[in-house]
Amino acid sequence: MKTQIAIIGGGPSGLLLSQLLHTRGIDSIVLERKTKDYVLGRIRAGVLEQGFVRLLEEAGCADRLHAEGFVHSGTLISYGGEMFRLDFEEHTGTPVIVYGQTEVTRDLYDAREKAGGQIEFNVDNVVIHDADSDTPHVTYAVDGKQRRIDCDFVAGCDGFHGVSRQTIPLDVRREYEKVYPFGWLGILSETPPVNHELIYANSERGFALCSMRNDNLSRYYIQCSLSDKPEDWTDDAFWQELRRRIPADQADKLVTGPSIEKSIAPLRSFVTEPMRWGRLFLCGDAAHIVPPTGAKGLNTAASDVHYLYEGLRSYYASGSTDGIDSYSGKALSRIWKAERFSWWFSSMMHRYPDQSEFDLKMQVADLEFLRSNKAAQKAMAENYVGLPY
Ligand code: FAD
Ligand code: DHB
Repeated sequence: MKTQIAIIGGGPSGLLLSQLLHTRGIDSIVLERKTKDYVLGRIRAGVLEQGFVRLLEEAGCADRLHAEGFVHSGTLISYGGEMFRLDFEEHTGTPVIVYGQTEVTRDLYDAREKAGGQIEFNVDNVVIHDADSDTPHVTYAVDGKQRRIDCDFVAGCDGFHGVSRQTIPLDVRREYEKVYPFGWLGILSETPPVNHELIYANSERGFALCSMRNDNLSRYYIQCSLSDKPEDWTDDAFWQELRRRIPADQADKLVTGPSIEKSIAPLRSFVTEPMRWGRLFLCGDAAHIVPPTGAKGLNTAASDVHYLYEGLRSYYASGSTDGIDSYSGKALSRIWKAERFSWWFSSMMHRYPDQSEFDLKMQVADLEFLRSNKAAQKAMAENYVGLPY
């Protein structure tokens, strides 16, 4: 088979890139290791930046998001029995949209299918060949049969555990990593959200987050030990722990019910440089991971797609390689700022096993400065709603 762009990975990055390229008449084939149902069954991010929303509009995939997503113009932050509101609209004039990654992915699959886009599921043994030449190709197996795609470029959108990053030789690739000594236990429950805006809570028992997907679907997280397993936590134990970590007036109105999903995510900061090797470009989680505090994971994947799409679009329109040559630098410049924000917000909100009394005082000082200082609020709001592309 032949295509212009071989896209490895049918998560949000790969699908969005494929759909955007399609709007400019650029062909792609998406290779996904799992089934569509499996990809749609993963419960992940929930907060979308405006830049991402604009990309989805450009891709023709934003109708349901605008109809069903919640516009949030602020968020609540609680600590030590206090709670304050960070007003995004006041500081940036921009809200965020609460709309689940599952729904974004479903909308992108629908659009790709409607346009007759080619997506191969259940692929195995994907190998990227000759990425450092002008004639790369990709081989893979499906139903036990070996296949080959010749292409102009390869987009590595295959997440943290994919093959694309590993294809870049070790003497070219540099990786930066920080692993956090705790995880997030998340549940989804068919109950009304405790509050109409998100609550990020720093408590002496650890972090908690109250989020949502719709009027009758809530998403809650609590910081947990890395050795915990989801099955160690009964629903009752989860609700009890969440209640203890959020302000009393919120705990009193929390509506509980059976969980319909329960999972634990470890927290990690990770960046690989460069994000391009020859004709291979890394996008999204294939190149970088943030701890989830502040919801930057999916949004940084979207900004990579934006820079890569712009580069490929101008290459096919004019033959100019300026956009693809500057891809890695532009993407990384924004990524590192999102890494800093996610690391800072995580550091301010969690309990660390080796935290000293001094460290705790620093957290409180950071929170009090944020609560009382407009410049600090503006800096946080600008980062939360998303830095410009
Ligand atoms: P992915 O969504 O990982 O998609 C990559 C795709 O590639 C997958 O479908 C995978 O099956 C496929 N693939 C992998 N290897 C291969 C291969 N060899 N061949 C073919 N296909 C392959 N972000 C937030 O902002 N908030 C959150 O609450 C949040 N929660 C998260 C919870 C978990 C458990 C995880 C793992 C991530 C979470 N994230 C969250 C991060 C966010 O979901 C990711 O940043 C986002 O999914 C990145 O999209 P992506 O398309 O780059 O990668
Ligand atoms: C969600 C996840 C986050 O990491 C976050 O900062 C906000 C919301 C969520 O899953 O809803």
